[in-house]
Amino acid sequence: MSASITLKNVHKRYGSNHVLRGIDLHIDAGQTVSVIGPSGSGKSTLLRLLMTLDKPDEGRIEIDGESIWTMPGGSGERPADSAHVRRVRGKIGMVFQHFNLFPHMTAMANVMEAPRHVLGLPKDEAAQRAREYLGMVGLADKLDAYPGNLSGGQKQRVGIARALAMRPEIMLFDEVTSALDPELVGGILQIMKDLADRGEMTMIIVTHQMSFAEKSSDRTLFFADGNIVEDGPSEQLFRSPTQERTQQFLQAVIEGT
Ligand SMILES: Nc1ncnc2c1ncn2[C@@H]1O[C@H](COP(=O)(O)OP(=O)(O)O)[C@@H](O)[C@H]1O
Ligand SMILES: [Mg+2]
Repeated sequence: MSASITLKNVHKRYGSNHVLRGIDLHIDAGQTVSVIGPSGSGKSTLLRLLMTLDKPDEGRIEIDGESIWTMPGGSGERPADSAHVRRVRGKIGMVFQHFNLFPHMTAMANVMEAPRHVLGLPKDEAAQRAREYLGMVGLADKLDAYPGNLSGGQKQRVGIARALAMRPEIMLFDEVTSALDPELVGGILQIMKDLADRGEMTMIIVTHQMSFAEKSSDRTLFFADGNIVEDGPSEQLFRSPTQERTQQFLQAVIEGT
């Protein structure tokens, strides 16, 4: 199952820092979209808003046409209650750059935590799910390992398995290979590419891996200064960008590698 995503005039400010400046965006269910752009342009903020880790100051975010922060009430809409937000958030999973694993829990326990305590699955069912998804990411032999005894790549595999174990309709990936040693990057990108090719979920991938973005995503957004500067089919955006700002960014990335 997958869900669509719609943002309408979404603004986010941190103090006087106007980070997102009126984002309008629609992503179809099942689409894989890469997001590229300079550091500080608001990419992580966009994902954090989708994950409901933060709230927009203005505008509207809809998952499958359903507003996250408002709900039907009376003759119109009222602010969403926490049960509504929790239900909508339940459709979304996120993987972070710095893994955010519980250090005192094994790989199994990390993956079982949310299915048990958020979904309320019985222990054996959560364990079965954890084995399934840890197996899928190539960690069948590391079920009982603690994060401190795993490589960065293995920790990130646990992070991906943990998000997948909630069976989300939307997966958000925020620079998930940026903290990894170069030789561990390829394996993680391959897992994401396989997920994208399956097309079972809607995926948004914030990445600095340009060739990966081009190969694995249907569409790429170039973000700068809190706005979407360019939005197009990935091949077109990378091969013949229309905006000067995009051209400059891609040129700088090429020169940096
Ligand atoms: N929780 C926060 N509090 C204050 N400022 C923040 C917070 N999160 C992000 N920012 C600021 O918002 C801007 C965009 O950050 P971010 O979304 O992380 O950019 P990106 O992911 O594109 O590098 C930056 O100027 C950053 O310092
Ligand atoms: Mg970021």
